[in-house]
Amino acid sequence: MKAEHLQRCQVATPPDVVDLLWDLALAQRDGVVFPSVLDLGAGDARFARSAKARFARYVGVEQDRHKITRAGLPQAAQVVQGDAMAWRGNKASLSIGNPPFIRSAHLDPLWRTAVLDRLEHESGTRLKDTANVFVLFMLQALLRTRDDGLVVQLVPFEWVTRPSAAEFRAYLHEQRWDVQVYRFDADIFPRVLTTASVVIIDKRGTKGRWSFGEIGRNGTVRTFTSPSGTAKSVLPYADRDGNVHALRGLSPGGQEIFVLTEQQRLYYGLKKRRDVAPCVTSLRRLAKDTEVLDAETFLRDFVQVGARCWLIRSDKAHWSPELSAYLDSVGTRWKRYSTCTNRSEWARYVSHPAPALLVSSGFVGKAPKVVVNEIGAVAVGSVYAVLTQRSKPKLAKLASRLRAYDFSRRLVHHSNNLRKIEVRQLNAVLQRFGD
Ligand SMILES: C[S@@+](CC[C@H](N)C(=O)[O-])C[C@H]1O[C@@H](n2cnc3c(N)ncnc32)[C@H](O)[C@@H]1O
Repeated sequence: MKAEHLQRCQVATPPDVVDLLWDLALAQRDGVVFPSVLDLGAGDARFARSAKARFARYVGVEQDRHKITRAGLPQAAQVVQGDAMAWRGNKASLSIGNPPFIRSAHLDPLWRTAVLDRLEHESGTRLKDTANVFVLFMLQALLRTRDDGLVVQLVPFEWVTRPSAAEFRAYLHEQRWDVQVYRFDADIFPRVLTTASVVIIDKRGTKGRWSFGEIGRNGTVRTFTSPSGTAKSVLPYADRDGNVHALRGLSPGGQEIFVLTEQQRLYYGLKKRRDVAPCVTSLRRLAKDTEVLDAETFLRDFVQVGARCWLIRSDKAHWSPELSAYLDSVGTRWKRYSTCTNRSEWARYVSHPAPALLVSSGFVGKAPKVVVNEIGAVAVGSVYAVLTQRSKPKLAKLASRLRAYDFSRRLVHHSNNLRKIEVRQLNAVLQRFGD
């Protein structure tokens, strides 16, 4: 893993949340002292320093030696510098902690494969290559605890529905352990855009009971029947199908290079159609009641306000002298984007068709913004593209059905107010609306 990703994952747990996790762990075992505690990704070992902690022995494993401070550490606690995923000490009665959050794409592929192999060898379960590292840590925590052990971890709530964690959930179901997942009703990590949750996995459980709920920082829990937090089940994920489907927005590789403002377009003498196409990277600036992205709306809400809204057409076979000059002016900035470095010609992306509808992936309230794409704008980044050949009236009807659908009741929280619909969940809704 790159040093920058190791550093970025070092989000320390607030002390009151450390105490709360200890309260929850102790409540599972009637307050009895834990004989041995393991903390994978221990940081400064704050789980050993908590006044609430009750253990006979604590071992923390931390990769970054700069994080490790022995001063003030209780005598029975020890922090080992090393890779928590390679840890092979005696099995613990409790594994508690806050594992790192690092997307699979940011992990060293060789390390990831070795870890997935090892976890598979021990658990019989092959996690997906796309699983976030915190999912790998949770499985490691389960493997490094005793058969009657307990795992209490602070992790993002998303694993309860993400397809990338499906194998991990299936493993838990197979083992029939009891699982409790409580998402926080407050921003535990204000600068991090995910909803935090506490997971309690009790290996003494044999019935495979799962419960979901919301927890306050003071420890009050409100339970739900479904992870969506409502009586409705979470939207399923569907592959694209037949005559209407959604695609993720285009990722040409670095919007600062590929998507220009009107001012930049004029500066480089780039012509509409020949050198650039209209595009949207976000629907945030559209008024809530906007139903159609027409030329006037595009001009007013994107072009005139200086938004990045012109996608350069470096996907084309031939570039005008102006476009070539612009691409030369990029210099070596493209080297920062793996999408560019992975292409034989860094600028030549594969284009997407202009969609019939544009749908935002993140939203507050009941449903994402949905607009009919009258100007043929390309969906870029977090804007989803809905492709269909429907007639104009049918398209308007589909758009209004999407706007009226209460997505919020069928999604897990992304961050406190913001919901995020996955593209395959949008496909599930589109399929339901069918023809
Ligand atoms: C989210 S922080 C939590 C730190 C501390 N446990 C806390 O609750 O404040 C995750 C920690 O895991 C460490 N880490 C990341 N990858 C690791 C690995 N492979 N082995 C051990 N520690 C790792 C990071 O350096 C970081 O300190």
